[in-house]
Amino acid sequence: MAKVTSDYWDKKYEIEDFLYTKVENRFVVEYCSPLKPGRAIDLAGGEGRNSVWLAKQGWTVENIDFSPVALRKYSDYASEVGVASKCLATVADATSFVPQQDQVELGLIGYLQTPGSELKKAIRRLGKHVVAGGHLFGVWHARANLAGGFGGPRDPRVLPTVGFLKRALWGQGFDVVVCTLRDGQIQTKEGLKPSITVVLLARKRG
Ligand SMILES: C[S@@+](CC[C@H](N)C(=O)[O-])C[C@H]1O[C@@H](n2cnc3c(N)ncnc32)[C@H](O)[C@@H]1O
Repeated sequence: MAKVTSDYWDKKYEIEDFLYTKVENRFVVEYCSPLKPGRAIDLAGGEGRNSVWLAKQGWTVENIDFSPVALRKYSDYASEVGVASKCLATVADATSFVPQQDQVELGLIGYLQTPGSELKKAIRRLGKHVVAGGHLFGVWHARANLAGGFGGPRDPRVLPTVGFLKRALWGQGFDVVVCTLRDGQIQTKEGLKPSITVVLLARKRG
């Protein structure tokens, strides 16, 4: 799976339902709940399930995604639940974005499934906008999921490892708080199946 285009994602999102549901990711809840709300960027935030959840917790969130269709659904959803004033949207590529909020207390990146060189650029660019003392949190289907796990893409090039994520942050002024594999389950047509996720929480030195 090479880098895909925004047209590819727009077509996937052109359905009435929410492709990734309106339910916030459980790892985002687990790792971001303890953080004091401030400004956040949700990079590749899609239809905004995590952005809206953060806004409900008091964060001012900028969802940056290259799919205008996803961001339209996100903005409508934010209005529907009364948090539109805390939800910004920016159409841009994850490797070259210029955010409306230059400095944020939280950089979130959830399931950006793009080849390693691109993912590293995106993580580093996001990291530059995190203030000293702020956090970067990421979650992905893990490469380890290919061996017996379910869900997510099957191309190893878009599935990060713990080592890759730690290396992506080297020299960027972050201390890694957590970078680990987490076991979970995913709903399939045949019932619940095991699935392996990789999570990264890092704090910017200051
Ligand atoms: C699997 S979805 C995850 C969406 C959201 N983070 C969530 O967890 O519901 C991946 C998202 O990445 C976005 N994306 C993929 N490549 C991108 C890129 N190069 N720049 C910006 N967004 C990108 C897609 O438009 C899509 O919304």
